[in-house]
This record gives sequence, structure tokens and C-alpha cells, in this order.
Amino acid sequence: MAHPLEELRDAALREISDARDAQALEAARVKYLGRSGSVSAWGEQMKTLGKDEKPVVGKLLNEVRNAVTAAIEERAQNFRAQKESGALANIDISLPGTPHERGALHPLTQMLDRSIDIFRRMGFALADGPDIDDEWHCFDALNTPPEHPARNEQDTFYLPDGRLLRTHTSTVQIRAMQAAPPPMRVIAPGACYRRDEVDATHSAQFHQIEGLYVDENVSVADLKGTLEFFMRELFGPDTAVQFRPHYFPFTEPSLEIYVKSKALKRGDQWIEVAGCGMVHPAVFEAVNKARGDKAYGPEKWTGFAFGLGMDRLAMILFDIPDIRLFAQNDLRFLKQFA
Ligand code: PHE
Repeated sequence: MAHPLEELRDAALREISDARDAQALEAARVKYLGRSGSVSAWGEQMKTLGKDEKPVVGKLLNEVRNAVTAAIEERAQNFRAQKESGALANIDISLPGTPHERGALHPLTQMLDRSIDIFRRMGFALADGPDIDDEWHCFDALNTPPEHPARNEQDTFYLPDGRLLRTHTSTVQIRAMQAAPPPMRVIAPGACYRRDEVDATHSAQFHQIEGLYVDENVSVADLKGTLEFFMRELFGPDTAVQFRPHYFPFTEPSLEIYVKSKALKRGDQWIEVAGCGMVHPAVFEAVNKARGDKAYGPEKWTGFAFGLGMDRLAMILFDIPDIRLFAQNDLRFLKQFA
């Protein structure tokens, strides 16, 4: 005849395997293994048993407790697995995923990269300077006296401490020459700031590539050759390049560069794209004074400098009608250059 403990075990195992869900299983666990469950009750009863019965029943009780515990754990495991596969069954793996759009370079960055690439091939190295600079680097060292209109509050953003947002990248000419003696062949791309009325062709922030070439016997012919080559690489071999006399305080002679090309949308018009000229001796003298030497002696060294309007060049090349589009982050615009 089966021991009552064995009958208890069989009843428990049956109930466990019949449990329809996790809740029913938990009820069974409480009923048999809980603090006042029937298996636990047998533990209490052990104390009342005689000496020779105790070990036998004790061993049996242990076996029963282990068997019931294992059965409950196994069934619980089943329920957990069912639940997980149920959740998976609700996922439709044939649905298309969330598309991630690929980014692309901003048209201005593309323009900058192309330009830098062309100058690199001509041996120009990259130079850099801060967007926030002082009046000396932006004006004084560039032969631009205090009464010059560019230094006016109306044209330049000044900081409370007297520093300013550079109005052109020509500041980097000065910084490059302060940092190293000639010969010098650098370009400096970067942002510039002017208090212009914002419209389709003017923005308070715009971008330039500054160029500076200093060596012995550098002439206007070198300047023209370099920039004509650049314009033809950029706009195509049929590009006409025109140099018109102009005035900048820091160059003499000074010129403005115009291009015209059938490859461009406005192919029949001369379009102004840059300022340039031969470095003014006064600029060399200012640099020498700051350096405390005569490294840039104007009798020995000559040079040319230029400032290319990047936004303007990009607008021409990509046929963009409004400079404000560059800063509006409108994907309908930006995607056209991806
Ligand atoms: N700095 C001038 C400008 O912003 C451009 C320039 C640079 C002209 C170098 C001559 C030489 O308009």
C-alpha cells in the first residue's frame, strides 16, 4: 500500500500538470509547498514520529518535496516559454522596417571640399584662425586705419570686450605670417560675419577661402595664373576670367575677379567671385613688428592674397537663387545635393 506521502505527491503532480495557467500553478504551489501547505504540514508532523519511523519518513518527505518543487519549476518554465513565443507570434516580420535616411554633405561643404582639393594640387597648405578675433588682426595689421568704414559698429559685430567677429578671413594671413617665415603658401577656409541687411544675396554669416602666397619674385602674373586655373578647374575649361581694378587697403594693386561660363545657368553674365591683389608692404611691416624681426622684408619678398566668396561660388555652381537657403536646414533643398 502506498504511503500517504506518496499519495500526496501523486495528487500534487497531477494538479501541477493539470494547471491551465501560471495562476493555477501558483495556487497549487501554495497548497502543497506554502507555509501551511500539506507537504509543509508533514514536516511539522515529523516531530511526533517514533525513532525508527523518523528517518524513513524524513527521507520520503524530502523526495516528495523535491519532486513537487521540480515539477512546479518545469511547468512554470513552460508557461514562460509559451508567453514569449506568443509575443513573437504577434510580430509581423514581413512588415517593412523603419527606413533610416542616409545623410549627405551640405552644398557649402561640398563646395569647400572641391576648392580645397584644387588648391592642394597647387601646393597650398591649410591654415586656420579663430572666428572671434581682435581689431589688430582684422584691421590694423591689414593696413585698415581706425577711420575706415569697415571698422564701424554698423558694419561689424563687436563683442563687449572689444573683440569682434571677423569680417573676412584675411585675419588668417596675418596669423600665418606671425607663425612662420616665408616662403608661405596657404589657404584658409572659414566663416565671416558682417552686419549686412539680410536678403537673397547677403547673410550675416558667410564663408570665404583666403589665400596667401609669399615668395621671391612673385608677380601679378602668378596671381592671375593661380586664380584662372582655379576658376577653370571649378567651372570648366571654357570659363572666362576677368580681373578688374579695385581697392583693398591690404593689397596694391587690388583686383576683383569676375567669371563667365556657358556651363553656368547665368552663362552670359560676368559674375563677381573674389577679391585679390599683391600684399601691401605695410602688411609685411606690421607682421615684422609683431614678430620682432625682419622675416617679411618687402625688398626681398612679394606675395599675393585672395579671398573667395564660397557661398557665392556655390550659388553659381549649383544654381542656387537665395543665400538664406544654406542656413534654413530645409531637407527639400538639401536633398538636391545628396
Ligand atoms: N578680404 C577681402 C574681402 O573680404 C578679400 C580679399 C582678400 C582681397 C585678400 C584681397 C586680398 O572682401
